Amino acid sequence: MAQEIELKRGLRDVYLDTTKSSNVIGDIGRLIYRGYDIHDLAEHSTFEETVYLLIHSQLPTRKQLDAFDAQLRAARALPVPILEIIDKIKTAHPMDVLRTTVSALSTFTDDTDDTSHDAALRKGIELTAKAPSIVAAHHRIRTNQPVIDPDLSLNHAGNFLYMLLGEKPDEDTNRLMDKDFIVHLDHGSNASSFAARVTASTMADIHACVVSGIATLKGPLHGGAAEGVMKMALEIGDESNVEAYLGQRRANRERIMGFGHAVYKAEDPRARHLREGSRLLAEKAGDPKWFSILSKVEEQMRPYAERGICVNVDFWSGSVYFLLGIPEDLFVSIFALARIPGYVVQVLEQQERNILIRPLMQYTGAMDLEYVPIDQRG
Ligand code: CMC
Repeated sequence: MAQEIELKRGLRDVYLDTTKSSNVIGDIGRLIYRGYDIHDLAEHSTFEETVYLLIHSQLPTRKQLDAFDAQLRAARALPVPILEIIDKIKTAHPMDVLRTTVSALSTFTDDTDDTSHDAALRKGIELTAKAPSIVAAHHRIRTNQPVIDPDLSLNHAGNFLYMLLGEKPDEDTNRLMDKDFIVHLDHGSNASSFAARVTASTMADIHACVVSGIATLKGPLHGGAAEGVMKMALEIGDESNVEAYLGQRRANRERIMGFGHAVYKAEDPRARHLREGSRLLAEKAGDPKWFSILSKVEEQMRPYAERGICVNVDFWSGSVYFLLGIPEDLFVSIFALARIPGYVVQVLEQQERNILIRPLMQYTGAMDLEYVPIDQRG
């Protein structure tokens, strides 16, 4: 008699392991990093401090934060051959360029195969610092603009915007990017962090783990949704078209990007900060068009909340990037810049108590077929 198998397709509702890093509480829409509510961190912390918190499990003293910040700033520059690789593949999607160059960076460490905790931590911090330089340099190169060297006087978020757009951001813009990075840092067993963990479980090196994460983040059901949201807003074009547009999508049974989540059945707590950021940017620019269109979409989607399909982080992050003048194909890369240290944290956690992640598949294919030599097949 066949063994009875309980299938959990997509590993939904399966607890893989324990974690002390982030807690996604889906039914009430809360997100906790190491005990601290995401709202407190978004309002009061910085990206640098929150990364330290996630890595070291506690908030730093001033001295610890200064040392960590200095380590990040010192690691921002890219080796010349990496810039040459970027130049050679400049027409590729920014996520493909990021994935390829992170992989290539592994050859610029003299201890590629060292998978110890200390090596993974050091190289993970370096990757966190270098990734914004990759995304910015690629964008400058593909648009025939000179690559901008990192400015060591700027914080992580401000320096990224400066290297990308060529102007030092004002304080509000810098703070908004910083907040965006904070809320995207870590998120339980999301698909890309899970991919990074699976890679870590084989005892592969940190670059391999981060490459797995970046590759998995790219898809439109995960990090790629923000790009889809802004494309939708551009297609809608005017607030008066929202109802008809959504009606059409509904009739075609198409998903609305920026809504729904595998875990949150209430509003994604990260969305609040970016909605507010989008509102402020629209006000500042004196151009409420995109904020109004997206607010109307959100309003029209309210009935979906009864089915647990609520607004998610990507709905508002796309409009923030758009209003900052960042092209849509860079949106998912920006998500990756924030999530890379999240991968590092989860890889370190996996290493602490490693077990090879190796689930089973129920075989439903044919059995006992007779092999027919190729020249006897009809
Ligand atoms: N628009 C319309 N219907 C939806 C949506 C949506 N955005 N999301 C889910 N549904 C419907 C879906 O069609 C299905 O309906 P039915 O039962 O009638 O077939 C039902 O809800 C359940 O769908 P599911 O795919 O089983 O639900 P899920 O919880 O696995 O979906 C999701 C999670 C993120 C894949 C999905 O909500 C989705 O595709 N959303 C759009 C993409 C998106 O915004 N992704 C960003 C996620 S947040 C950033 C991140 O952490 O990656």
